[in-house]
Amino acid sequence: MPYVTSRELLLDAQARQYAVGAFNVENMEFVQAVIAAAEEAKAPVILQTTPGTLKYAKPWMFAAMVKAAADRASVPIVMHLDHGDSFATAMNCFRAGYSSIMIDGSKQPFEENIRLTKSVADACHAAEIPVEAELGKVGGKEDDLVNGDDSPYTDPEQACEFVERTGVDSLAIAIGTAHGVYKVTPVLDIDRIDAVKKLVSVPFVLHGTSGVPDDKVRECIRRGMCKVNYATDLRIAFTEGVKAYIAKDPEVYDPKKYGAAGLANVKQYVLGRMEVLGCAGKA
Ligand code: 13P
Ligand code: ZN
Repeated sequence: MPYVTSRELLLDAQARQYAVGAFNVENMEFVQAVIAAAEEAKAPVILQTTPGTLKYAKPWMFAAMVKAAADRASVPIVMHLDHGDSFATAMNCFRAGYSSIMIDGSKQPFEENIRLTKSVADACHAAEIPVEAELGKVGGKEDDLVNGDDSPYTDPEQACEFVERTGVDSLAIAIGTAHGVYKVTPVLDIDRIDAVKKLVSVPFVLHGTSGVPDDKVRECIRRGMCKVNYATDLRIAFTEGVKAYIAKDPEVYDPKKYGAAGLANVKQYVLGRMEVLGCAGKA
């Protein structure tokens, strides 16, 4: 199956009312786990890395791994930059061969978010690479376990102006989710998806989904979320697998052994998510 862009996957998801899972990968074991789950579930899939992850391993490393795997895989696969924090980070990933780019100017004032997002969209569109942007604020920090700060929700009219002026292909809208482990159950403004959808036609992206109850995730998809992001729960699944292996065999010194235990846990977790998102069987 081809290495594809997120444009075709998200438009299909929008037309058929399911969501493509976008899973944050941290190393080779995560890449193998997510792709194995996608093949087993017959699901299209997006793998993504944050700028924090790209300090751990370079974008060319992730792009090369994922492209090589896509060439041999039975499902369509995307490599996406998650929460790109600058024009330079976006261009590094673009040049490394990522097939989808997010630029996140949501912490900037509205006009600056537009300027930054449009500059990335113009550069990527020259090579037909689609761009996701964010308006409003998803709480928490993408690379940390903390959350709980205020999450200003996306304003529908601003979203309409933002998409028109930047030309982005998909939009992360803030409805009350936060990145990281929830300390309290989030209060979601799901009706806001309908309000934005009245004015904006590009596919929407749900961030901060680890810990959001499945019925709420399904409802968000029914209303128009076409890409659903999971990071924290994969990190927890991997680490629990490794810890359990080492607890059982404290003398272990071969990383392949506990790495495989982490991989198996991530694969199981992703398989479960693909059922909830409705992307299983859609490839
Ligand atoms: P979680 O870590 O809460 O799953 O959020 C994932 C995300 O939005 C990645 O961009
Ligand atoms: Zn996010």
